[in-house]
Amino acid sequence: MSSTPARLLVVDDEPSMLDMLTLLFADEGYAVETARSTEEARRVLALGGLDLVLCDIMMPDGNGLDLLREIKTSNPDAPVIMMTAYTSTKSAIDAMKLGAYDYISKPFDVDELKIIVQKALERAELVDENVYLKKALEKKYTFNNIIGRSARMQAIFSLIERIARTASTVLIQGESGTGKELIARAIHYASPRAANRILAINCGALPETLLESELFGHERGAFTGAVREKKGLFQEANRGTLFLDEIGEMSLTMQVKLLRALQERKIRKVGGNAEESVDVRVIAATNQNLEERIAKGDFREDLFYRINVIPIQLPPLRQRREDIPLLVDFFLQKYCEEMNLSPRQISIDAMRMLEGYDWPGNVRELENMIERTLALAHSDTITTKDMPVQLLTHRKSHAEIVSLPEEGLDLEAYLEDIRAQLMVQALERTGGVQTQAAELLGMSFRSFRYYAKKAGLKGGADSDDE
Ligand SMILES: Nc1ncnc2c1ncn2[C@@H]1O[C@H](COP(=O)(O)OP(=O)(O)OP(=O)(O)O)[C@@H](O)[C@H]1O
Ligand SMILES: [Mg+2]
Repeated sequence: MSSTPARLLVVDDEPSMLDMLTLLFADEGYAVETARSTEEARRVLALGGLDLVLCDIMMPDGNGLDLLREIKTSNPDAPVIMMTAYTSTKSAIDAMKLGAYDYISKPFDVDELKIIVQKALERAELVDENVYLKKALEKKYTFNNIIGRSARMQAIFSLIERIARTASTVLIQGESGTGKELIARAIHYASPRAANRILAINCGALPETLLESELFGHERGAFTGAVREKKGLFQEANRGTLFLDEIGEMSLTMQVKLLRALQERKIRKVGGNAEESVDVRVIAATNQNLEERIAKGDFREDLFYRINVIPIQLPPLRQRREDIPLLVDFFLQKYCEEMNLSPRQISIDAMRMLEGYDWPGNVRELENMIERTLALAHSDTITTKDMPVQLLTHRKSHAEIVSLPEEGLDLEAYLEDIRAQLMVQALERTGGVQTQAAELLGMSFRSFRYYAKKAGLKGGADSDDE
């Protein structure tokens, strides 16, 4: 970045000033361009490639502040330093408001000017480098717009790359809002099928007969209302991908029909006799625990094995908290652009709060929260004050954000709350076994039971013994 000399533009109507500054900065190793009028300056600026502009405010053919305004829109990263013949505070303030890096009053001390220029260039380079590093980082932790630096997400990205080439059926399991559909689309677009379509259907949203005709099509007159022949999604997605969302909701009868289609790679329209071969990759998703559904007899085991060729388990967001800051940045950028807002920042405390929250709605909840917060926030920086209430009351751990509110607090209730939250976490970790949860917290089983009851926590697996 610093191998080529920095290019400076000096704008001043006084020839002696231009000569002096050219000599001064050439001596410092910079490449110097000059302009004697705002018009001439515009011509040089249009050529681009400038690293810094030094500009007089009073020009015979116009105002240096207008030029500054133009530079800030056409070339926002180049620092601009304004020079003014009079110590006019008003124009100096105007210049700073318009985004000037600094200003200097004539007559000035050349050493002072040299330092200002050097600092401005250093800072510009730093800004540049930050943008560059951030981009590189984003790229590293992004797979087709899916963000994830956590080891578990990185493992999923590499799995997607490996399985994209195959036509094997994929089963994506994960809580609501974890990104199942996003992953399904990424698999399709990373595959040789990307040139063809990916079609999606929510198996839970349609009654059985309709779902069957949606999937396999129907012949004319197959049922009342079937006024013309219709292709099914399996035919429409031929040579592409079919995404069967909420597969756990499918009725047992439909499960049999789907199993047949998957095994034989042939389908039969509703009301038809002929079989048709199809070449479709199926990706199924569910937020239910299919093994549990099998145990209850609600889901066919044979279908499960047929679709679970490549299982992908998407972890809930609370189990990959290290992804939260990247996701927040990503959504901030996305929604600022969408809402035409200048880039927004988030305070460290607010980010901590987001990292500490449990996100029952996972990434979708985080995304919605950022969108809503941006729409309501008043300033360029989002602070804890802008956070919705559930984040203030349901945060995971108070330990990292202990601070005494201005209005004071009820310490007993506060500590009770912390105890209850830690007990919930201990129960989660031990699969609901209270004896182990008590041990994890260094509590006797007796007092664990006492406080669990007091806090109204659900009984664990062993709550009935003793
Ligand atoms: N890792 C991620 N990076 C960026 N955006 C994500 C990520 N995961 C999810 N999202 C976004 O979150 C939202 C929810 O994702 P998606 O619809 O894929 O979830 P889902 O698991 O299918 O949820 P549901 O079970 O409720 O259908 C989408 O807007 C998606 O773009
Ligand atoms: Mg979904």
